[in-house]
Amino acid sequence: MRHLISLKEQSKEDIRKILDIAQKLKARHKTGEITNLLPNKTLIMLFQKTSTRTRLSFEAGMTELGGHAIFVDSRTSQFSVTDFGDEIKAVMCFGDILMFRAIAAADVVLAAAFNKIPVIDACSEKYHPCQALGDILTMSEYSGELENVKKIAWLGIENNISNTLKLACAKLGIKVAIAAPEANEPPIDKGLNSMTDATGNVSYTKDVREAVSGADYVHTDTWMDMEFFEGGKIKPQFAEEYERRKKIFAPYQLNAELIDNYAPRAKIMHCMPCHVGYEITRDAIDHPNSIIFDQAENRLHIQKAIILWLLDKKI
Ligand code: CP
Ligand code: NVA
Repeated sequence: MRHLISLKEQSKEDIRKILDIAQKLKARHKTGEITNLLPNKTLIMLFQKTSTRTRLSFEAGMTELGGHAIFVDSRTSQFSVTDFGDEIKAVMCFGDILMFRAIAAADVVLAAAFNKIPVIDACSEKYHPCQALGDILTMSEYSGELENVKKIAWLGIENNISNTLKLACAKLGIKVAIAAPEANEPPIDKGLNSMTDATGNVSYTKDVREAVSGADYVHTDTWMDMEFFEGGKIKPQFAEEYERRKKIFAPYQLNAELIDNYAPRAKIMHCMPCHVGYEITRDAIDHPNSIIFDQAENRLHIQKAIILWLLDKKI
C-alpha cells in the first residue's frame, strides 16, 4: 500500500509520475472538463492544527474528482479522550484515504503502519510533501519544464517545508542553496539529511547573497510554526523564543531589495501563510517576480494527483 509521508519513500520516477498526473488534471480543469474519477470514494481529513490551503485544496480536489471529503477536527472529536492508535484505526474504517495534519510526524507513521488505507502527511512538524510537490509543479511550469529548474534558494529557518522541498529537489537533480543561521529542532530528520547530502545537490551557507545568486526560485517560510500561535497571537510560552528568532533570522528576510540587487531573474515563492514584515516583506509578496498565488493554486492540482497516485487510479 502506498503512503505519502516524507518523500523519503518516493523515487524520482514516483515524483515525476505525480507531477505528470497533476499537469494533465490541471489542463483538464482549465478547459472545464469533468474529472469525476473517484465516485463514492471518501477522503478523511484529520486536523490537529489549523489550515487554510491544505483543507480547501483537498476538499475542493475531492469534489472535483467526484468523491467526498470529511473534515475531522481532533479537538472537537474524541481524540482527546482516548488512545490515539485505537481512535485512528477506527477513523480509517470510514474512508478510502486519510489526509492527516499532525502535530507529530510519528503519529502519521503510526497511522500508516496499520496499512488500512493510504495515509498522507499534510504538514507535520517534520514534513509537508504536498507542499513540496506543489512547489515543484509550479517551478516546472514557470521554467517551461522540470529540466530547466536548475537552482533554488531557501532563506531563513530550516523546517518542515525546507525538509521536503530540499529532498524533492535533490532527488530530481535540482541544486538547493540553503541560507539559514540555524535549524528548527523538532523538524530535524538525520535520515532525510543524509539522503539529501548523498546527492551532492544541497549546499549550506550563512550568506543570503551567495544563496540567491543564480537561483531560479527563492523560497522562504515562517520562523515560527503554526503550533506556536493561538488566535493569531504567539502563545505566551513562546514569546521569548519569538523575540530571539526575530533577531537571528532578520538578516535572512526575503525582500524586494535582495531580489532586485542579487537575483533579478529569480521568482519569489512562499508556501503561505506569510508573516508579512518578518520572513517576507509586502514588497516581495507583491513583486513582479512573485508567483506565490499561483503556487497556492497549484495545491489543488497536486492534491488531486497525489490522491489518484496513492489509489493507483489511472487517468
Ligand atoms: N501552505 C499550507 O499548507 O497552508 P495551510 O497551512 O493554510 O494549509
Ligand atoms: N512551517 C509552517 C508551514 C505552514 C504551511 C508551519 O508548520 O506552520
